[in-house]
Amino acid sequence: MKIISFISLLSFILLSTTAAANNEHKEGIKLYVKHCISCHGTEGGMDMSKRVAPPAFAVKMHYIGTYADKDSFVMAIADWLENRDADNSMMPGAVLRFGVMPAVKVTRDEVEKIAAYIFEGDLESPEGFQQHYEDMHGKK
Ligand code: HEC
Repeated sequence: MKIISFISLLSFILLSTTAAANNEHKEGIKLYVKHCISCHGTEGGMDMSKRVAPPAFAVKMHYIGTYADKDSFVMAIADWLENRDADNSMMPGAVLRFGVMPAVKVTRDEVEKIAAYIFEGDLESPEGFQQHYEDMHGKK
């Protein structure tokens, strides 16, 4: 009997942590769509003359090279949103092309959820991104 209640307690804990992670993921998507997708979405594709900012997928690739684990990745993105300074940019090419990203009104907590989604989520990359990335940074 004891074993059974232990197992049900354990599965309850496991299920509720998974549910919490799922909720956080969903919230991350919602916040990303609300605050970031207008500039960082796939619209405009890889034709930079039709874009106002690099696609989120490109941002992810630039950050993940230096901040490979989730915690430091989330921290780096949240820090950027708080302090957008060309000197701290991981994407100096994008700064030259588009100018420094304008301020976006989001809380640190919201940015952390968005950044976690960007890290984990299956972001759509615009058509032609792979080619662009290889041209700029070489084949992986
Ligand atoms: C009004 C347009 C706009 C919105 C909205 C926007 N961005 Fe940006 N973002 C830019 C531009 C332009 C750049 C490229 C220039 C730069 O890096 O500063 C950029 C670059 C970035 C970078 C790379 C910074 C670097 O240079 O290292 C990150 C990270 C980023 N955005 C995150 C976000 C997140 C997260 C959101 C949503 C909360 C967001 N952006 C919303 C325009 C936008």
